[in-house]
Amino acid sequence: MSVSRGGFSSRIGFIMAAAGSAVGLGNIWGFPTQTASNGGAAFVLVYLVLAFFLAYPAFMAELLIGRFGQANAVTSMQKMSRTAAQKKFAFFVGFGGIICAALILSFYGVFAGWMMSFAIEPIAILLGSDSAQWFVSQSIFRNLLFTTLFMFLTIFIIRSGVENGIEKWSKRLMPVLIVLLVSLIIYVVTLDGAAEGLNAYLNPDFSRIFEPDLLISAMGQAFFSLSLGTSVMIIYGSYISKEENLVTLGAQVTLIDVSIAFLAGLLVIPAMYVAQAQGVVIFAEDGSLISGSSLIFTVLPALFDSMGSMGLFVGFAFFILMSIAALTSSISMLEGPVSYAVERHDMPRSKATLLIGLGILVLSTIIVLNISFMLDFVATLATQYGQPIIAMLCCIFVGWIWHRNEILTEIKKGYGEVENSLFWKIWPIYTKFICPTAIGVVFIHSL
Ligand code: TRP
Repeated sequence: MSVSRGGFSSRIGFIMAAAGSAVGLGNIWGFPTQTASNGGAAFVLVYLVLAFFLAYPAFMAELLIGRFGQANAVTSMQKMSRTAAQKKFAFFVGFGGIICAALILSFYGVFAGWMMSFAIEPIAILLGSDSAQWFVSQSIFRNLLFTTLFMFLTIFIIRSGVENGIEKWSKRLMPVLIVLLVSLIIYVVTLDGAAEGLNAYLNPDFSRIFEPDLLISAMGQAFFSLSLGTSVMIIYGSYISKEENLVTLGAQVTLIDVSIAFLAGLLVIPAMYVAQAQGVVIFAEDGSLISGSSLIFTVLPALFDSMGSMGLFVGFAFFILMSIAALTSSISMLEGPVSYAVERHDMPRSKATLLIGLGILVLSTIIVLNISFMLDFVATLATQYGQPIIAMLCCIFVGWIWHRNEILTEIKKGYGEVENSLFWKIWPIYTKFICPTAIGVVFIHSL
């Protein structure tokens, strides 16, 4: 690994960083929300299957591109290309992913800002401040302030580079996240109403499993959750040592990601039923569970309010959990464009980080100022169009352009016996045929 571009110093450093990228608002907010609006356990089951059989192979493709290329997404893919047309295609896919990461960060920062301001409200109440309500009320000023704060935290970490920024902070924050999550679950499942929630979460209604809408949502969720199609896993792959076994590392990260989504459901769905036992409305008019932002910003806060002073601590812990999850993800989104500017345009890291971070903050500001239209528009553009298309093109790149022997040599560096493994029997066919087709079908269906 070249000294000048840095890299993860250890296996656990990579696992924490990649899991930190994967585990985000998508797991703790998106997954329970989708579960709630797609009939509970049936969605959980489909999600688990798709995460391992569709998202994991695509995730491996991106990690391998990066580890082979030892560079940002564009350079890595161009290293595998032989003809001029392939190089152009590589640029399109790599740069498309980088733009996609920047777009995602621009709206993710707004959501993350809300999480931070909701975390501060209980502190303001404890301090007896009259302005506590301001932190949980929509206003342009609050949104701008907290989005800016969050973006500067992200910039601060990325400025310090891979080992001293991404790795160090992921190793600190991920354990805190897991402890907070597990403690909250233990507390919530002891409350009245939780059992009914567990039942709704864990008992599948098998008749819904093949509903197209459910399949589409589950796949989109799995791809978003593993941060696919955005150049992020390519760049993280490029920071892994050649001695590491990518096949198991990738599987471990997928497992952590899926487990944390599952745990988050174990917290949020029972919490909703506990809220119902306290008199909070948790079903929408059409009979479905309330989901989306009202779940996080109305139903759960109403629950915390009903818990008296204990609720202040629980609310604080919950929104800190959300903020940490968002931060370990946002740093990965910024690293995509920053690594490109540093490596392709010879920019010093600190300058690139600040310039790109501020550029994305300008975009976030535009979103905040036109929130009712822009938030949804950018989120849809990046996650429902950008991510699946780029992820599909990455699979096509690996399956159809990269030579099979070269791929094998790359995996063998950290996993000598891979040729005889189940992985090598299945995965090449998967990336060549099944992943691109499945993504394509689901994508076209979602239009
Ligand atoms: N995976 C994160 C989540 O679940 C989101 C995320 C992090 C992401 N990095 C990304 C999404 C890069 C797309 C691209 O919340």
